[in-house]
Amino acid sequence: MAWIEARKICKIFPGVRALSDVTLSVEKGEVHAVVGENGAGKSTLMKILGGLYSMDSGRILIDGKECEIKSIADSLRHGISVIYQELNLMPALTVAENIYISGLPGKMGCVNYRELNRRTQTLIDSLGLHIRPTDYVSALSVSQRQMVEILKALSHNSEIIIMDEPTAALNNQEVETLYGIIRRLRADGKTIIYISHRLREVFDLSDRVTVLRDGEYIGTRAIGELDERKLVEMMVGRDISQLYQYAVHPLGDMLLEIKGLSKEGVFSDVSFTLRAGEVVGMAGLMGCGREDIVKSIYGLLRHDAGSVAVNGETVDIRRPTDAIKQGIGFVTEDRKDAGIFALMTVRENITLNILRVISKFRLISAAKERELLDTYTKRMNMRYANEVQRIMNLSGGNQQKFVLARALASGCKVLILCEPTRGIDVGAKAEIYQLLSSLSEQGYAILVISSELPEIMSICYRTLVIFQGRVTGNILRDEMDENLIMRCATGGATHFSEGAML
Ligand SMILES: Nc1ncnc2c1ncn2[C@@H]1O[C@H](COP(=O)(O)OP(=O)(O)OP(=O)(O)O)[C@@H](O)[C@H]1O
Ligand SMILES: [Mg+2]
Repeated sequence: MAWIEARKICKIFPGVRALSDVTLSVEKGEVHAVVGENGAGKSTLMKILGGLYSMDSGRILIDGKECEIKSIADSLRHGISVIYQELNLMPALTVAENIYISGLPGKMGCVNYRELNRRTQTLIDSLGLHIRPTDYVSALSVSQRQMVEILKALSHNSEIIIMDEPTAALNNQEVETLYGIIRRLRADGKTIIYISHRLREVFDLSDRVTVLRDGEYIGTRAIGELDERKLVEMMVGRDISQLYQYAVHPLGDMLLEIKGLSKEGVFSDVSFTLRAGEVVGMAGLMGCGREDIVKSIYGLLRHDAGSVAVNGETVDIRRPTDAIKQGIGFVTEDRKDAGIFALMTVRENITLNILRVISKFRLISAAKERELLDTYTKRMNMRYANEVQRIMNLSGGNQQKFVLARALASGCKVLILCEPTRGIDVGAKAEIYQLLSSLSEQGYAILVISSELPEIMSICYRTLVIFQGRVTGNILRDEMDENLIMRCATGGATHFSEGAML
């Protein structure tokens, strides 16, 4: 018998039917994946189970008994913990305070910090993490924050743990740690509901999978009955295998030239070029310095030495607006903190970058904004209720598409994209790859930082590898191979393809 069952759940937001008659039936002790395209309704369903949203109609049963979940406290009491897709930590508090915020140990209003930190340390140790209970969350990286969210969910010792794209911000090693945690939880008899756009994870981890599409229930299958193709077909309702194919086209002028870029203790002597028509990957382990390198090109971080030239002319980029003026666009990996303007509308978000640059016109016409929005909505298959919807109410993947669309709409010729398809569904991924390919054909130069090697391998003409702040590889497409990239990324080898301009 099902352990937790959601029956005929409906949820309507103004202008969107997020869930209609959705069913989810999960057995005790299983890892149950929930998949579907961006905006399919996965997070909405989890927020209902977590007590964050109320449903319009439907029933929830746990262990055969009907239960009412009207608040987060109700949900916790029924033994459900949710790790939400958007991180919800308080940056100004410590790791320990964040984890135990709803139940700080102590007496008569005084927090027993020694006890608090001791408990937190025990949790941290159980996962073998390298953070301290007293670290402020504001000082942690995105992936460390994600781990804190996971610790917080574990601290409740709930029977049912829901993870909404927990790996989106994790590096490979952290993903392994998480796999270990999930397997251990399952061995302890806990039930896990797992949402991910990385199908490999779904196949690695889950016992069964439920597919949603456009707010509707499509079906539930044992993982053994499926292969990737069948699953994708259930998700998108069409065959997408032909959607993206790597295309070769000639390279043009040198658009960006980086020489000897260094920042003490972070990266050193980084040199590379980007030519019109090139899609270049940048691989490396978390902490290798790749984000800092590109941030310093974009003016978000000062470098100590080295130069940046655009179109053959050395430029001095001190802040992002300088970079945009030089035709360099940047998409951050940290969507929530820096990528979107959560309270602004869909239409405003798309033109924000350009607004600053062309602010001498004071006003940007709504019609122009609408036109840009229309173009990208179609190109990327973006879903939202209407153009004045607040960005923060879009599904996670649709927010990511926005960040990307905004960079593209800014008219930059050099695009630097960090983890561009994080949280984006399979269908849209293929469309974005296709879009990058056609942009490069039109003469854009694109640098893609990605932790997903299959992504780099499928879209890049060439890939740079960074190890401890230095370039250890410059590998052309025909020589690219996951093993070789990993060896360069871990300091086990260097490889500079012959004939490849660095
Ligand atoms: N608070 C809200 N207000 C208005 N609309 C919302 C709200 N939350 C979600 N929606 C809409 O409901 C639909 C389902 O969104 P949901 O976040 O559940 O999708 P998802 O399957 O989690 O997608 P993703 O893979 O992109 O995270 C979307 O069309 C979204 O715009
Ligand atoms: Mg979601």
